[in-house]
Amino acid sequence: MYIYLNNKLVAEPEAVVSVYDHGFLYGDGIYETMRAYKGTVFMSERHIERLGRSASLLKLKIPDKKNIMHSVHKTLDANKLSEAYIRITVSRGKGPVGLDPALCKEPSFVVFAEKFREYPAAYYRDGVRLIIAKTRRNFIGALDPRIKSLNFLNNIIAKMEAKERGAYEAVMLNPQGFIAEGTISNIFFVKDEMLCTPSVEAGILDGITREIVIDLAKKNGLRVREGLFSQEDIFKATEVFFTNTTSEVMPVSMVEDRTYEIGKITQRLRRLYKEEVKRYLKKTADSK
Ligand code: PDD
Repeated sequence: MYIYLNNKLVAEPEAVVSVYDHGFLYGDGIYETMRAYKGTVFMSERHIERLGRSASLLKLKIPDKKNIMHSVHKTLDANKLSEAYIRITVSRGKGPVGLDPALCKEPSFVVFAEKFREYPAAYYRDGVRLIIAKTRRNFIGALDPRIKSLNFLNNIIAKMEAKERGAYEAVMLNPQGFIAEGTISNIFFVKDEMLCTPSVEAGILDGITREIVIDLAKKNGLRVREGLFSQEDIFKATEVFFTNTTSEVMPVSMVEDRTYEIGKITQRLRRLYKEEVKRYLKKTADSK
């Protein structure tokens, strides 16, 4: 595998950063996960824009959009990948110990990509199980979840809770007890034929898949409500699913001990999302 590190491609064993990197010492950094379909990076502009937002909220210097996409394509080409999982990581870089970002001269910029591993078809057919984690999502005033940062410890602890309880993903509540999001995903549910999802104010990462699904739902005549929801709301729902870049629309069969059908709205949105991917690929091919 070839990894893009700072300004060049290097073989994986040489792709190393210093133990003094503040990403390693303090979690000072950001990342993005993208997915390539047939060599096209889906919604790359939105991902790069979000990386830019995370960077500016942390006053972290990153390459410009064109250079970032250039490094992504170089990485895909070097590894002969077309269906790929892509991760961009930017950390504060190497510097003496101390929290001050000014101690670090240059950020570390890394892109790696791997062949996309499809999730088992049974997950989409039968749905996956979720729990409601004890561990809460961040208080916005402490670390805004809109920063896609390298500080993921509470999500990691929530994921461990899910695994210990035999579930696939965990729903995290915000500090006030409202539903926030999954550990690496956004949560949706259907109640009285209305598609519901926590609003950004609930303290979530405003997922790109989430945004697409909301748009598709509205365009196709579904009623959508973004707001503050309680655990009871999800227990009263008739359908539940989660979204992210790699899973797309993932149906949920169980939250705690409440079971759900893989309903029509979930199936429809999953189909519409797939069509949206195809439309994007065609549009991108046409503009080349
Ligand atoms: N995670 N919420 C959190 C906390 C996330 O980490 C993610 C994405 C999402 C969904 O965002 P999007 O639809 O833009 O992928 C929501 C990625 C997949 C990851 O951590 O690798």
